[in-house]
Amino acid sequence: MFTCKSLQLGAQAIKGLSKASRILKSTSPALITPRKSYVQNLRLPGREPFSTTATGNAEAGNEEKQKITVTFVDKDGEEKQIKVPIGMSMLEAAHQNGIELEGACEGSLACSTCHVIVMDVEHYNKLEDPTDEENDMLDLAFGLTETSRLGCQVIARPELDGLRLALPAATRNFAVDGYKPKPH
Ligand code: FES
Repeated sequence: MFTCKSLQLGAQAIKGLSKASRILKSTSPALITPRKSYVQNLRLPGREPFSTTATGNAEAGNEEKQKITVTFVDKDGEEKQIKVPIGMSMLEAAHQNGIELEGACEGSLACSTCHVIVMDVEHYNKLEDPTDEENDMLDLAFGLTETSRLGCQVIARPELDGLRLALPAATRNFAVDGYKPKPH
């Protein structure tokens, strides 16, 4: 008899516990499982908060590494050295740094006003080959050279660190505004 009563009490206690657990889960999930944001913001003594990205100096170092140095040389021979983030086009980088590279079609391969001349063959050979569209536009460029490229198509990559780009003395822009330069 005593054993039977004990078993009944035990079963009731288990039922009560599982009911309490169900109520807790349905009304306040935070009480059961700590929320992600809470875990992420948790600061333990001597530890930085959880993060999936590098922090502090390591991050600054990475950012520095993810930029290359590019020198633009204008038609008067004046040089301007800038840092260009990996993945950015030379046209965009020039615009962000106040360098006079026109880019009338904003990189849609419909002009040749972003014409640049790669100053050393070593870097030129490291560039991706120009597409047919780029070659077509380059054919219209004023002062075309063996190492001419369109600035909007030259994208910063680590191996291009130290790239030197000369800006041609003039540009030609038939495609965008119909302007025809007078013969020299
Ligand atoms: Fe027009 Fe580069 S900006 S082709």
